[in-house]
Amino acid sequence: MPRMSSSHRNDGSPATGSGAPPAPATARGAWHPRPETAQDVPAVRRINLAAFETAGEADLVDALRRDPAAWLPQLSYVAGPPDGAPVAHALLTRCHIDDVPAVALAPCAVLPGYQKCGAGSAVISALLEAAREAGERTAVVLGHPPYYPRFGFTPAGRFGILPPQPWPDEAFLALSLDGSPPPHGTVRYAAAFGIA
Ligand SMILES: CC(C)(COP(=O)(O)OP(=O)(O)OC[C@H]1O[C@@H](n2cnc3c(N)ncnc32)[C@H](O)[C@@H]1OP(=O)(O)O)[C@@H](O)C(=O)NCCC(=O)NCCS
Repeated sequence: MPRMSSSHRNDGSPATGSGAPPAPATARGAWHPRPETAQDVPAVRRINLAAFETAGEADLVDALRRDPAAWLPQLSYVAGPPDGAPVAHALLTRCHIDDVPAVALAPCAVLPGYQKCGAGSAVISALLEAAREAGERTAVVLGHPPYYPRFGFTPAGRFGILPPQPWPDEAFLALSLDGSPPPHGTVRYAAAFGIA
């Protein structure tokens, strides 16, 4: 399910091993967001495994990728330094507000050693722009209340958009991608989220 937790499983040191990107200090401001390709799938899994405490989010991404009703092929984005391996991933999948299609932002993940260097903002901003260009109208996210407003998200309740479970008002956020008033209703996530 969507997470608000920011905890991760290692000490935050930069990734090592094959394809390790350059140090964040040199990469700040130079992230290159783009849609994921088939070659990025292992890196996307590695990023989600490293960013979260459990394999839940990595498994969720793989389950969503297998569900054609949920997966929007051009709306899984990665970002990395120029000519480097991806260090950030963000995903939009199909959800519904009552019966109206919308997109749900989850998960968003940055390798621990590269967090707070702009990679998350770069990949999320580009992903939301791609959704806008694809004609998507509304995005929702369950997330850190101080983080997502920078992308234009505001509490979903203000639009009459209700979460599928009693999540905190300040953490369940929505964004009109096309500037029109979003639909009212209750959000239904893709089945892989396991949210009844
Ligand atoms: C949350 C996350 C995707 C943000 O990406 P990032 O690259 O670290 O963040 P950016 O560099 O783009 O933005 C930095 C800003 O985000 C804030 N921020 C980062 N993580 C935050 C968190 N967990 N809660 C609140 N704010 C956070 C920083 O304080 C900083 O704020 P400032 O710009 O006002 O100084 C990333 O930190 C991450 O992968 N965290 C672990 C997994 C997670 O919690 N994912 C989100 C839930 S799906």
